[in-house]
Amino acid sequence: MTDALVTERPNARTDAKMSFYGVHHLALNTDDMKMTVDFYVGVLGMQLVHAMKVPPGLGVGPGNRGNPPFEEVRHYFFDMGRDGLLAFFEMPKGAKEKGDRNALGAMQHVSLAVSPETQASIRARLDAHKVPYDGPLEVLPGVFSIYVFDPNDIRLEFSCQPKNGEGEPSIVPQVTQTKAEALHELRSLTRDETWLAGVTAGLKE
Ligand SMILES: [Fe+2]
Repeated sequence: MTDALVTERPNARTDAKMSFYGVHHLALNTDDMKMTVDFYVGVLGMQLVHAMKVPPGLGVGPGNRGNPPFEEVRHYFFDMGRDGLLAFFEMPKGAKEKGDRNALGAMQHVSLAVSPETQASIRARLDAHKVPYDGPLEVLPGVFSIYVFDPNDIRLEFSCQPKNGEGEPSIVPQVTQTKAEALHELRSLTRDETWLAGVTAGLKE
């Protein structure tokens, strides 16, 4: 992708003083880092870019700022594209129960943007490794996804937008509704017209 395309891409449609640049890193949990590396690098073809252990003092005791409550756990990072990192912590075996992706505050799934050819390659790689998947399905207008569970039972989605060809997809414009379309649903949430006008102020008529 060229710099010109980067500068043409609008930043988040929000307050002009706020600059959101997408995901810096998404941190997930495993109890088997080797298995996780084998899947993300070996099956999916992602690049491992950083391997470390969390420095001592951050796991147990007052130094913990929300990290896993274990000392010096492995913390590895993969390049998930768009200059974003997919990270994993490795919990000690048996120390934590399996999560519920539908629990409040949990991550239900994550969708990675791919080109149509890359989605086809991922399907071929999953087939070769006998990893089952669902799809492709049109999950939003013009957005076609496959779904797969990683070996940690994390639900992954790989979404492509054929309209964008093999180039980097233009995701937010693809799904942005008109004001009327959004209000059709939002009026089931509240009838407060002042609130509705405020949250839809950035949408086109
Ligand atoms: Fe999704």
